[in-house]
Amino acid sequence: MLFDLCLFLLLVPVFSKSLDPTFNDDVLGLIVFKAGLQDPESKLASWNEEDENPCNWVGVKCDPKTQRVTELVLDGFSLSGHIGHGLLRLQFLQILSLSNNNFTGTINPDLSQLGVLQVVDLSQNNLSGLIPDGFFKQCESLRSVSFARNKLTGQIPESLSWCTSLAAVNFSSNQLSEGITNLYDLTAINLQNNRFSGQLPVDIGGCLLLKMLDFSENSLSGDLPESLRRLRSCTSLRLRGNSFAGEIPSWIGELKNLESLDLSTNEFVGRIPSSIGNLTLLKELSLSRNRITGGLPQSMAYCLNLLVLDVSQNELTGNLPSWIFKMGLKSISLSGNGLSKSMQYPSVTSVAASLQGLKVLDLSSNDLSGEIPSDIGVLSSLLFLNISRNRLFGSIPSSIGDLKMTQVLDLSDNKLNGRIPSEIGGAVSLVELILEKNCITGNIPTQIKNCSS
Ligand SMILES: *[C@@H]1O[C@H](CO)[C@@H](O)[C@H](O)[C@H]1NC(C)=O
Ligand SMILES: *[C@@H]1O[C@H](CO)[C@@H](O)[C@H](O)[C@H]1NC(C)=O
Ligand SMILES: *[C@@H]1O[C@H](CO)[C@@H](O)[C@H](O)[C@H]1NC(C)=O
Ligand SMILES: *[C@@H]1O[C@H](CO)[C@@H](O)[C@H](O)[C@H]1NC(C)=O
Ligand SMILES: *[C@@H]1O[C@H](CO)[C@@H](O)[C@H](O)[C@H]1NC(C)=O
Repeated sequence: MLFDLCLFLLLVPVFSKSLDPTFNDDVLGLIVFKAGLQDPESKLASWNEEDENPCNWVGVKCDPKTQRVTELVLDGFSLSGHIGHGLLRLQFLQILSLSNNNFTGTINPDLSQLGVLQVVDLSQNNLSGLIPDGFFKQCESLRSVSFARNKLTGQIPESLSWCTSLAAVNFSSNQLSEGITNLYDLTAINLQNNRFSGQLPVDIGGCLLLKMLDFSENSLSGDLPESLRRLRSCTSLRLRGNSFAGEIPSWIGELKNLESLDLSTNEFVGRIPSSIGNLTLLKELSLSRNRITGGLPQSMAYCLNLLVLDVSQNELTGNLPSWIFKMGLKSISLSGNGLSKSMQYPSVTSVAASLQGLKVLDLSSNDLSGEIPSDIGVLSSLLFLNISRNRLFGSIPSSIGDLKMTQVLDLSDNKLNGRIPSEIGGAVSLVELILEKNCITGNIPTQIKNCSS
């Protein structure tokens, strides 16, 4: 019995070595990788070269059958140094994630040649230089690559367009400036916050599989290419912070799967096309900081899934439409326009339900006149209300005390008069109450001490 056990203990290591000579490639690869980096917080202390089996090491996962390393996830380990050659020994690696460390140097073009690598995330490091052309030359299995938040320069390599299995690239927050034309057959492209300039390629809409496109915070210009109208599968289109110009095309209404459209901070002019009402899945619409004119099209009332509407800082005119309060929005920002008439919303009973989800209402810097609706208190979930810089008059309604969740209330720069109602003490969440530049008289009610700040 004792003899059997000893024999067993003796034989197991010998057998596993002789049966599977490649087994220790994983250990060797990881140890070589570890030797080439700095690990100031000793996160990799469990990586011991004496081990036969790395499958219990921190950040390492193995295939339970073969015991080969399939995943290496070392996000936020404060590691620095170079991403060394050791990793090239991990022949069965599928997921490599080294996000949020301090790795420096260039990207090793051979990494992608690991036969079965599917996901590479090197985001939030300090990698520099060009994205090597070789990286995408052998990428049969690669599905998703993120090099976001590094210091990569130059162009998106041409070879990327040959990676037929690749679905998502995230190169956001680098210093890339060329090569948008090399992005095809992807479902998600994130190039936010780089240095791309000039016009979008006219055939950009050829990426028919595209679901998410983010070119925000670059220096792109010109009209939106008409080929974009073919992106019928697109759910998220973000072009914020460029110099796109011309009118918002009416074919935008053909992108029926859009849930998120952000065209803010560009140079768009003209009216909001009424076809926007065909985007019935839209949840978030931001057109702020352009030079859009005219009114909000009535058809927008059909965007029944809309939660966030931001058309602030444009040149919109006309009435503050009442349908806007019937849609169950969570956030409405219309500030910095020329909207006029009164700020009446439809009668309480009909809309109270849909107003109950409203958290942010910014109508500041418009031309609104009339009184603050006496039942303003129905906005019971409101966190932020800014109606400053309008021409509102009359007194502050006592129902303001029903705004129990409101943290910021800016009524400044209007023509309000009368006293601050003592009911204000009911607004128990208030952190900031701004009433300056009005004609409010009397003392600050003592009840205000009930407010949290
Ligand atoms: C990178 O290194 C700097 C200083 O060496 C340190 O302050 C910072 O926290 C590190 N960042 C990460 C993500 O480890
Ligand atoms: C990133 O690398 C540069 C040199 O390439 C260095 O000066 C800088 O401190 C590094 N940043 C971090 C956070 O390690
Ligand atoms: C891209 O990377 C950035 C930075 O790591 C991250 O915040 C963002 O969610 C990523 N976007 C996509 C679409 O993966
Ligand atoms: C919405 O689409 C239909 C066709 O699907 C079209 O007839 C209609 O004019 C569009 N509505 C708007 C407001 O463009
Ligand atoms: C309210 O809006 C005005 C004008 O748009 C702005 O200057 C002010 O900072 C806003 N108030 C708060 C508390 O954000």
